[in-house]
Amino acid sequence: MKRRDFINWVGLGGIASSLPIAIAACSSQTKTPSSSASKDWQTVGTLAELDKAGQLLVENSPVGPVLVVGTSKAGNLIAVNPTCTHKGCTVAWKAAAKKFICPCHKSEFSVDGKAQKGPADKPLSNYAAKIEGNSIVVKQT
Ligand code: FES
Repeated sequence: MKRRDFINWVGLGGIASSLPIAIAACSSQTKTPSSSASKDWQTVGTLAELDKAGQLLVENSPVGPVLVVGTSKAGNLIAVNPTCTHKGCTVAWKAAAKKFICPCHKSEFSVDGKAQKGPADKPLSNYAAKIEGNSIVVKQT
């Protein structure tokens, strides 16, 4: 075997032996984190942030826009996608009325996201929410 042939042969062997590793590395990177992330519990903020205002709005969380309502003392957290089902404005939580109200056309949604007053006629989508250590975590239901 000539020297050049030997080097080519070893070079091909090296590529062939490292190919499975390269494929494995690429395939683990091509998994879409958002698809698995959206089904798992995701941290959207801290307990201190929630307790400060009794609500926590996160527009770009791993699961999408989230509005968490509650406090660490109340325990029972509510989490909805605050995107109004009428034309997409961000609804606000009105604690005194215990409703989500859209600032754009005044649609109202109950604490569990059901449309109570139009023009929106579809409910806000809900998330499961809980406290984990000092974090607020949510996941799609
Ligand atoms: S966008 Fe919310 S009521 Fe129209």
